[in-house]
Amino acid sequence: MKKILILNGPNLNLLGTREPAIYGHETLADVEQLCRNEGERLGFEVDCRQSNYEGQLIDWIHEAGRQCATGKMIGVVFNPGALTHTSVALHDAIRGANVPVVEYHISNVHTRESFRHHSWISPVAKAVMAGFGVRGYALAVQALVQVAGAA
Ligand code: DQA
Repeated sequence: MKKILILNGPNLNLLGTREPAIYGHETLADVEQLCRNEGERLGFEVDCRQSNYEGQLIDWIHEAGRQCATGKMIGVVFNPGALTHTSVALHDAIRGANVPVVEYHISNVHTRESFRHHSWISPVAKAVMAGFGVRGYALAVQALVQVAGAA
């Protein structure tokens, strides 16, 4: 069974208690279960990881690139959190590892502060989605299967 990686960046471990008016009441564990269920329904194994560290996320993107190259993985659903708006290193990692990424944001970043309007990830992502709440991760899994040509 081919794999999908769900990658969450800084502060997403606080889901459920962090600004619930923006991010909702569901926890990261709830999100990961939702992704596993959706991935399995579509015939994929789902690996879920979260880190508050840019370097760790970069290492996991590189690992995903190797797994995609050998056909073991179809790609990554990635919510890079605030690193979206700052990280040239994650941009380079995705480009360098040649890994299909669906960038996902729980909130609609374009209705929020202007510093959230720019993404270093979008130019190297296959697709970009935002504003569907935590349930939107399931839509992002569906989108990845489609854009990776694995449907
Ligand atoms: C976020 C949006 C980012 O601007 C923010 O820094 C996050 C979460 C989202 O899912 O809406 O940590 O990526």
